[in-house]
Amino acid sequence: KKSGKLSICVFGASGDLAKKKVYPAIFSLFYDGHLPDDFVVFGYARSNMSNDEFKDRIRSSLPCRISAAKDCDVKVEKFLTRCFYTAGQYDDPEDYKSLDVAMAEQEQALWGDKKTLRLFYLSIPPSIFVPVAQNAARHVSSKSGETRVIVEKPFGRDLESSRALTEALAQDLAEEHTYRIDHYLGKELIENLTVLRFSNIVFQPLWSRTYIRNVQINFSENFGTEGRGGYFDNYGIVRDVIQNHLLQILALFAMEEPASLDAEDIRDEKVKVIRSIRPIDMDNVVLGQYKGKRDGDGVLPGYLDDDTVPPGSRCPTFAAMALFIDNARWDGVPFLIKAGKALHKRQAEIRVQFHHSPGNLYKKQLGNREENSNELVFRIQPDEGIYLNINSKIPGLGMRLDQTDLDLQYKTKYSGGALPDAYERLILDVVQGDKRLFIRNDELEAAWKLFTPMLDRIEEDEIAPELYPYGSRGPIGAHYLASRWNVRWGDTME
Ligand code: BG6
Repeated sequence: KKSGKLSICVFGASGDLAKKKVYPAIFSLFYDGHLPDDFVVFGYARSNMSNDEFKDRIRSSLPCRISAAKDCDVKVEKFLTRCFYTAGQYDDPEDYKSLDVAMAEQEQALWGDKKTLRLFYLSIPPSIFVPVAQNAARHVSSKSGETRVIVEKPFGRDLESSRALTEALAQDLAEEHTYRIDHYLGKELIENLTVLRFSNIVFQPLWSRTYIRNVQINFSENFGTEGRGGYFDNYGIVRDVIQNHLLQILALFAMEEPASLDAEDIRDEKVKVIRSIRPIDMDNVVLGQYKGKRDGDGVLPGYLDDDTVPPGSRCPTFAAMALFIDNARWDGVPFLIKAGKALHKRQAEIRVQFHHSPGNLYKKQLGNREENSNELVFRIQPDEGIYLNINSKIPGLGMRLDQTDLDLQYKTKYSGGALPDAYERLILDVVQGDKRLFIRNDELEAAWKLFTPMLDRIEEDEIAPELYPYGSRGPIGAHYLASRWNVRWGDTME
């Protein structure tokens, strides 16, 4: 059991993210014994509800990892005895003062005057980030211990708005206490990326232009933006997943070795590599938007069929681009990024395609050597795994070769239990004050510097996205883009 006194407050407690991700993650931490014995979880939102009504609302979303666990219901009820709800306006300091009183009362009753860590999760729309952060910091901060605040994207929608947000938040929150979440950093495979790179001599020396021909980062979802169109239309796929999640993956993949595993050392290297990315050339960008498709008797709705999307919107729901890192390690290596909604499957992966091995020995058997070069794949989700494609002899007489996998599948190798959700790991890190997996302000700034000129061009030139049918592999333009760099998307070859 962990010691310490912990008081969490979820702002926006009646919202979707709180219900689907934040509360279940806090509960799982409790279930697995990662929270201190002394903890309380407050929820704050505008809706008027009693504590009991609130508990009824979240009860159904609290999953036990092993759903058949005998003690599951007991644990859920025990957890709920530590959950409280306070209703209030987001801009009224008096309401925050009442919240502070309510929190102090529970803390006092449970553990007296002892030093308490207060953790705020801002699970709220971006339009109210600033008033909530300010009021919470001013009126609800811990009197006896530290206060840490978790904020979740969108952190602005371009360099200027992101800077304004950072400055506004900084008035009341020190960078040291601000935890900018990017939930992709909490995914199991992403954590393993650094381990794989820096602790294996079989990979370490290969990690450069000398051996790597191209790197692909693919993200696809087999559902559209139904229901979220109002939010999405103001952002688009580049801001929604590329500027944050996929760029973070790229940074961890490509950064130099950090001086240590300390948060600041890792983040120093990430910023450096993001700053080394060449400004994006619009000729290296392909945009798409999904359109409706007949499906048996029904139809899969197009992006524009969503009532919350403005008619005629050109918002991209798909983007592919080639990025280049102008440093000695990666000179000339294309990093191809592809992300889309309403595609044929839900998947996220990194693919590393190596040069073909020099020499002619097996040229006859291998045929097109580019296509038969080694490929290392990190499957982020679903079915987490890492596999390496190698050429190998087919057993038997004669000399026939084929490509096969050295395959590490998490499901078979680590069959012990389901993997923790990204939010669980990240919330625990905040409790422990570990900032390795959170975005520092200069990283955020570098990310926006990279993408803002391109986003401006898309909007100013009103670039029309290429339409692709719901459930397809995306616009054909993505293939032309790849072939321009002599690359084939690995996921289309499987
Ligand atoms: C979010 C995006 O940040 O990430 C969503 O806003 C996207 O549009 C989601 O669906 C993907 O996360 P995950 O963990 O489900 O892959």
